[in-house]
Amino acid sequence: MSFLFDEKEKVFLINTEKTSYAMALVDDVNLHHVYYGKKIQSTNLRYLLREDVYPFIPSTAKRETNGYIESATFEYPQTGMGDYRDSAFCVRSMDGYRASELVYAGYNVMAGKPKLEGLPATWGEKCETLQIYLEDKLLGLKVTLNYSVFDGNDAIIRSVFVENQGKEPVYLEKVLSSCVEMFNKDFEMMTLPGSWARERHIQKMPVGYGRQNAASFRGKSSPQEHPFMALVTPGTNQTQGEVYAMNFVYSGNFIAQVERNEFDFVRMTMGIHPEGFCWKLEPGDTFTAPEVVNVYSATGLETMTRTFHHLYREHLIRSPYLHKERPILINNWEATYFDFDEKKLIDIAKEASKLGIEMLVMDDGWFGKRNNDDCSLGDWQVNEEKLKGGLPYLVEEVKKLGMKFGIWFEPEMICPDSDLFRAHPDWAIQIPGRDIIQSRAQYVLDLTRQEVVDAVYDMIDQVLKSADISYVKWDMNRFLTNLGSAALPADRQGEIYHRFMLGVYQLQERLITDYPDLLLENCSSGGGRFDPGMLYYSPQIWCSDDTDAIERLAIQEGTALIYPLSTMGAHVSVCPNHAIGRTTPFETRGNVALAGTFGYELDITKLSDEEKELVKEQTKQYHKYHRLVADGEYYRLASYQENNAYDCFMVVNSDQSKALVFYVQVLSHAQVKSRFVPLRGLDEAKTYSVNGVTYTGDVLNNVGLRIDIEWGDFQSKIFEIEALS
Ligand code: DGJ
Repeated sequence: MSFLFDEKEKVFLINTEKTSYAMALVDDVNLHHVYYGKKIQSTNLRYLLREDVYPFIPSTAKRETNGYIESATFEYPQTGMGDYRDSAFCVRSMDGYRASELVYAGYNVMAGKPKLEGLPATWGEKCETLQIYLEDKLLGLKVTLNYSVFDGNDAIIRSVFVENQGKEPVYLEKVLSSCVEMFNKDFEMMTLPGSWARERHIQKMPVGYGRQNAASFRGKSSPQEHPFMALVTPGTNQTQGEVYAMNFVYSGNFIAQVERNEFDFVRMTMGIHPEGFCWKLEPGDTFTAPEVVNVYSATGLETMTRTFHHLYREHLIRSPYLHKERPILINNWEATYFDFDEKKLIDIAKEASKLGIEMLVMDDGWFGKRNNDDCSLGDWQVNEEKLKGGLPYLVEEVKKLGMKFGIWFEPEMICPDSDLFRAHPDWAIQIPGRDIIQSRAQYVLDLTRQEVVDAVYDMIDQVLKSADISYVKWDMNRFLTNLGSAALPADRQGEIYHRFMLGVYQLQERLITDYPDLLLENCSSGGGRFDPGMLYYSPQIWCSDDTDAIERLAIQEGTALIYPLSTMGAHVSVCPNHAIGRTTPFETRGNVALAGTFGYELDITKLSDEEKELVKEQTKQYHKYHRLVADGEYYRLASYQENNAYDCFMVVNSDQSKALVFYVQVLSHAQVKSRFVPLRGLDEAKTYSVNGVTYTGDVLNNVGLRIDIEWGDFQSKIFEIEALS
């Protein structure tokens, strides 16, 4: 990695191992984007600024909108001064004017990364950051654009600081974190939309003139949209094509947008959604816009995926469980829903412990008077009528079986029917005079208030101190509405969404600091807040409430496009599946879940003897495969979403001596007896055993693995590959 400022050319060049990113100054004041792509060494790039080209009228004066501004490529475009494309930055002065002119004011190169106060962020020592300073003299604003690069990784990580050095407050109405401008290459936009139980499905569509975006202003990253966008050239597949990707290290509102203008330039932006955002910045204060991870690949999606996987494994996830074996868990949600007592849970744990399962997770329904989902969130005290002997008894019984114990919380919520709400009705986010919109009979706690954050944390802390608890499942089951906080003045109500997220992050930070050995799994109605922000606190996230093995193929494929397999909570459940009613073989449910962080979500006491034998086998397989799945290089070989017949992917360890191929034959076809799937990532000079049969690496990579068609739909197989020489 290197940073260079060519004084003569006035060009900044950031070089990673395989990519380059360049900016240039015009008249020493305006900072323009000139290049992002395959690695180059030269700073002879000023021709890309097209200073001699005018869009409409023959003038290249730099303060001329028709003649220059409308078609120039800006590094950090702003509202109000003649650029009619969507901006990255908008500020309103106390007088009500919406405009800024941020001009270049210098740069700095620092070892490491600046701290992003209160926010999740990539970390690590082998890193350098280029900081470019911009200033608006009239408003007294200093804006710092940060570009960080880690040794050995091609991602360029951007964040923005805005400091009010003036004498008056200002209102920040938009502070996006990243903007890249390019000439259109017939780009297609790739995003990961979905729904509850159908999260992160890969979608591709042409980039037309105008604006297209993926966005959430629900108060969380959401299952409907995902804070990821890639622009890809036509025909891009796993190994070919150009990819420009952005992923947001944030769990609240976001916008990821591409705008194609009349001159066929595209502006790609990402950051906190401006809808509902307005931050009052007092003199002397700084606002920090969260990180966007920018990745460019000249060699298809696989390279992009690898860059994200490595960055997140090496520089985002902090949990010690990243490198430790995660316990195989059994969760009682689909087994009992709210209908359980200590006896039922101990029965499940007894049976589970005999079959190799290592942790019992008690889900929703153990506190207050919660026997269905219409009450008690906020009353985090054990319901001792339901759990006789309380938590200490239950946990000790589970531990006697040699198992660990985990527990569910939904800390951000408060039910109207709860003692907490009766005591503190103003602790719910609400607009005075309006009824609060309910969702699943719950309101959202006003975590913009420190006393609310402290009170929630104290309750969680009491529970965790009362027994030996190894794991917390942190759920979040609604969106934010009625945005209003009793604690904020009128001109700070636009800060609620972001302050709420800062409250959530503070809670999770305290939890993992005070309980460093705790395994935290985030969850939000399934995978509704599966994002890099959450991965900073928890090494795994519940991927989806849809545990059907076939539906999971698309969900896990979309998720693994960016996130390491070890982050995907994946469980075996019963059939017909509770989310969609499909019946699949027990083996296939296991094989699909083994590609993530493995567990069960069923009443194990009700399984047949044959199924219990399969559980024994699967728990052994998990231990055998886990490190390979968690640390291995991931290769997507075939997608059921594309071929409508089968799914196939593999993981390979770093010295190419071990690999696993996961294959699911979704639909059976008459007279197709076998298929040949070329593998990737094996050493072509090595000889391998594949489930006991010998092949050479070159044959497996170039000709393919022969996979015989099984009788019936939904069949699956895992191939174990080991180097013989
Ligand atoms: C939603 C989660 O995704 C489920 O796994 C379960 O924990 C329920 N909430 C409990 O209310």
